[in-house]
Amino acid sequence: MRTLARLVARSAPVLVLATALVCPACGPRATVTPVPAARTPTAVADVHSYARPDEVRVQHMDLALHVVFATHTIAGEIVLDLERRDRDAPLVLDTRELTIAAVEVAGTNSDWQRVEHRLGAADPTLGAPLEIPLRPDTTRVRVRYETAHDASGLQWLAPEQTGDGAEPFLYSQSQAIHARSWLPCQDSPGIRTTYDARVTVDRPLRALMAAELVSDGADGQRFRMTQPIPAYLVALAVGRVEFAAIGPRTGVWAEPSMLASAKSEFADMENMLSAIEKLYGPYRWGRYDVLVLPPAFPFGGMENPKLTFATPTIIAGDRSLVSLVAHELAHSWSGNLVTNATWESLWLNEGFTVYIERRILEVLYGRERADMEAVLGRQDLDEALAELAPEDTRLRLQLAGRDPDDALSDVAYEKGALLLRALEDAYGREAFDPFVISWFDRHAFGSVTTEQFEAFAKAELFDRHPVLPGRTPVDLRTWLDRPGIPSDAPRAHAAAFDRVDATVADFVAGRTKPEALPTAKWTTHEWLHFLRKLPRDLPAPQLEALDRSFALTKSENQEILAQWLEVCVLRGYGDADARLETFLRTIGRRKFLLPLYRALLAVGRTADAKRIYAVARPGYHPITQTSLDDMLGVG
Ligand code: BES
Ligand code: ZN
Repeated sequence: MRTLARLVARSAPVLVLATALVCPACGPRATVTPVPAARTPTAVADVHSYARPDEVRVQHMDLALHVVFATHTIAGEIVLDLERRDRDAPLVLDTRELTIAAVEVAGTNSDWQRVEHRLGAADPTLGAPLEIPLRPDTTRVRVRYETAHDASGLQWLAPEQTGDGAEPFLYSQSQAIHARSWLPCQDSPGIRTTYDARVTVDRPLRALMAAELVSDGADGQRFRMTQPIPAYLVALAVGRVEFAAIGPRTGVWAEPSMLASAKSEFADMENMLSAIEKLYGPYRWGRYDVLVLPPAFPFGGMENPKLTFATPTIIAGDRSLVSLVAHELAHSWSGNLVTNATWESLWLNEGFTVYIERRILEVLYGRERADMEAVLGRQDLDEALAELAPEDTRLRLQLAGRDPDDALSDVAYEKGALLLRALEDAYGREAFDPFVISWFDRHAFGSVTTEQFEAFAKAELFDRHPVLPGRTPVDLRTWLDRPGIPSDAPRAHAAAFDRVDATVADFVAGRTKPEALPTAKWTTHEWLHFLRKLPRDLPAPQLEALDRSFALTKSENQEILAQWLEVCVLRGYGDADARLETFLRTIGRRKFLLPLYRALLAVGRTADAKRIYAVARPGYHPITQTSLDDMLGVG
């Protein structure tokens, strides 16, 4: 259910492919995070970047960005501070459809001099390498550039695509390899830099970056990121947004019409932060805020440091979808603090994060809630496994020649989380929790590979702790390199879902009328399970009866609504069609869109799918367009 991935995978048929330190005394904005020194390890080969960090490594970026809504472009100037490892080597940056206006180099005495750069041939997936010759004394490079109006990492929204409808909106989505479409950079998750930025806008709108706001004046907003981060975590948003505080370290940014509901939906954020710190050690990023984006945002959430970007579709009114916030917050450890060195070990980001997300849910809302989410997650995983090529169901991936967006699947998320749950079960939380803490502490502000995880697990877990009585050791190699799920993998179970199963059976057999179904206390999760378990051949009149009793077509809970609409399309219940069309035209979240379009195709409604898409496409994010163009054979 919480998988962007399931859908992305399905959309790409071409796939062949220590103790926590919580400071209760911290006041507003008072949390001081020690600034770590940027680590400069030997680089791991990244098949998705042209950068050669073993020769020259960018250590700091100074960005000046002028955002022009009139032309949908950003005019940028970037100054890069370099660490030179090979004095003869040029600097090679990643770019995608950037127009390079000028490149200059300077030594420590700022003697800027123009140099001839070379922009290589553009690869459809990777973009073009920008090669800059360096002089022996060069320590800095300055590039003036402009973004393309259809940059893959940016979405420009017209006022009518926002909640308030008054002003346009811009936001970036850099993961996995889209940062290069709005800044020339070493766009590999194995390379970390700090940055400063100044942003100006051609309209009186607020710019936000996933960084510390330093000043906010007539010459624009200035930001600073003092913790070294990979390029995929550089993020920008511009729009009419306002802030509401939730706790001393937490708050929410949203369009004015959304602010009150967002604040109430995310009321538990400060508690989430404390819960996770008790489990995994101190939060190293100062503040944690969430920015609620307009509904076109293609993902559920994106863990931009200090400032998660989130879809408004998680605002359900009852806090039932906040696991997404738990997930993005958890990335502050798994992903942002300790980062997959390349996209081939994405499970180290996403699998760890799903595992931690459920640990947080357990602390805040109890084991039953965490178990329900785990069962739904396993359903997603099983569905993905049935559709993916076997080699794509391994945790250790090989992605040479492939777009990391296409290779994204539930496997990294759910199989990854399941492996960690298997380790927890085998060694017990007493041994496993300190192991995870030391994984984070030892690799803090570093990038990690699956091979490092294997070595670390052996040294810190397998060789030091006995397997609990009655448990079997975990065969890491099988988990990492064999397709599918090992037969002895843990299986999540939620008693509440057993009751839902019985309810489905009664309803389908006609023993219980919809109005008599025991749904009064059902949570969102029970509803989702119920809808997923309805048989494929359920006659439309029974759907109509359900709709009459529970007004599902009018549901304000987008997760339930999307699941219901899929149920309706697949079973030919046409009364939901108008709602389906509105939904497809207003929501851009791929997790919802892809199964709905796919359902239309599956029942032979290709003409409807194409007709709706023709209208909706301009409002979708470039990466959503790419997935749907493939699926619908247009573009
Ligand atoms: N980092 C991901 C989003 C992502 C992954 C973007 C890979 C591009 C490439 C984010 O943390 C995420 O997993 N989002 C999920 C929600 C989450 C609750 C599983 C999503 O958007 O559905
Ligand atoms: Zn994630």
